Amino acid sequence: MNAPLVVVVLAAGKGTRMKSQLPKVLHPLGGRPMIRHVLDTTGRLQPQKTILILGHGADQVRQAVSDGDFAIAIQDPPQGTGHAVMQVMPHLEGYEGDVVIVSGDVPLMTEATLQGLVEAHRQAEAAATILTVELSDPTGYGRILRDAGGRVVGIVEQKDASDDQKRVLEINSGTYVFRWQPLAKALTEITPNNAQGEYYLTDAIRLLVEAGHRVAGHVTEDQEALMGVNDRVDLAEAARLFRQRQNANWMRQGVTLIDPSTTYIDSGVVIGADTVIEPGCHLRGRTQIGSGCHIGPDTDLTHAVVEDGAKVQRSVVTDSRVGPGSQVGPYAHLRGGADVGPNCRIGNFVEIKKSQLAEGVKAAHLTYLGDAQIGRETNVGCGTITCNYDGRHKHPTVIGEGCFIGSDSILVAPLTIGDGATTAAGSVITQDVPALALGVGRARQRNVEEWALRRKDTP
Ligand code: UD1
Ligand code: CA
Repeated sequence: MNAPLVVVVLAAGKGTRMKSQLPKVLHPLGGRPMIRHVLDTTGRLQPQKTILILGHGADQVRQAVSDGDFAIAIQDPPQGTGHAVMQVMPHLEGYEGDVVIVSGDVPLMTEATLQGLVEAHRQAEAAATILTVELSDPTGYGRILRDAGGRVVGIVEQKDASDDQKRVLEINSGTYVFRWQPLAKALTEITPNNAQGEYYLTDAIRLLVEAGHRVAGHVTEDQEALMGVNDRVDLAEAARLFRQRQNANWMRQGVTLIDPSTTYIDSGVVIGADTVIEPGCHLRGRTQIGSGCHIGPDTDLTHAVVEDGAKVQRSVVTDSRVGPGSQVGPYAHLRGGADVGPNCRIGNFVEIKKSQLAEGVKAAHLTYLGDAQIGRETNVGCGTITCNYDGRHKHPTVIGEGCFIGSDSILVAPLTIGDGATTAAGSVITQDVPALALGVGRARQRNVEEWALRRKDTP
């Protein structure tokens, strides 16, 4: 296993059947572009170099993988898979090792399947090893041609196949290992004399056999790993299979998923044991959930941190934290740096943006808190609004510990309310309230006696 290894990822095709402005390999699966799944898997082979062949949408793809250490070769315009591999020649001059070739649109490929292929190749001391599979319906794929002794002699594409060849069930998965030097030589001999007028990589197989090299076929059972995504129907199916795999993994790690088929967990998410996730939840991006939490139903978390024992019910949490033992929802919206401390209670129709709530704060109903800082054990009454925006600038509201903010308080920022202070229900508070004081900012009530009797329309 110590011969040098280079990975080449083919991703220059147009992906016409996606009917999309977005390059095919950037369509997401489990929250990440298809090509990232492929690169993650090939990365585990620890290749000395990974070369991406890009064409259509090259700049966008380059951007999407810019955090990795990849060489890029441009193929423009695409003239077939053989022509695509020709583009890596300048990157591999004098290279003596093996090259693994995979497609960027085969996102479910597993490390085990690739390792198996590389091992088979080395054991057979072959110049090329093709990953193949037998399909009950091989329509559309290149067929593996073997001689009477079972040796691989070539691959014929569906469009070039005779009726007899079309009956072959063993297909070319489009994943291969080649010894680079013989492949490089064969590539120079490929011609586009075929139904599609393209330079087929698959022709290299026949050329290698004709030159007296050993070519092996490695049959796999793992059909799922080889699934190629050509249109959005395939994409949805691949996403479903990926989800099934990931969700089973979470359950084995001690997370209860009440209905895994309606639970959507991105691949960057972390979840602790004994957490229960109810149906209809989307856990996205870098969301982290502690242990013993209860999430859902119908909850959407993006880059959220939910700490141990917290409960988030029918709510949306984005770029925000829910402290341990806190309860959020139903129908709450935490966003843009809402930082809810331990044992808080955030109830229905409460929106919190860029605010810090210390331990034990309650905001149980119909409230907006923006750019606020709230001390321990403060109770924020129903209908409270921080008026944090004057049309030009955002201003802070600072509320101390143990305060009682009366229902329907309008807090016009910038504003500071001292520890232990109270605001009267229905107040518009425009000036600071000192510690322990009562802030009242509302019109005094006056009763008009016997008003009803004096109404003009009194019967
Ligand atoms: C190819 C194989 C076929 C195999 C099938 C498996 C050839 C000639 N045929 O057919 O035997 O059964 O894959 O899925 O290789 N690409 C480029 N540049 C190009 C053309 C394609 O980079 O000029 C890339 C595509 O982006 C894609 C991959 O190569 O990632 C495969 O291309 P595609 O056109 O899908 O090949 P198939 O016709 O499916
Ligand atoms: Ca294809």
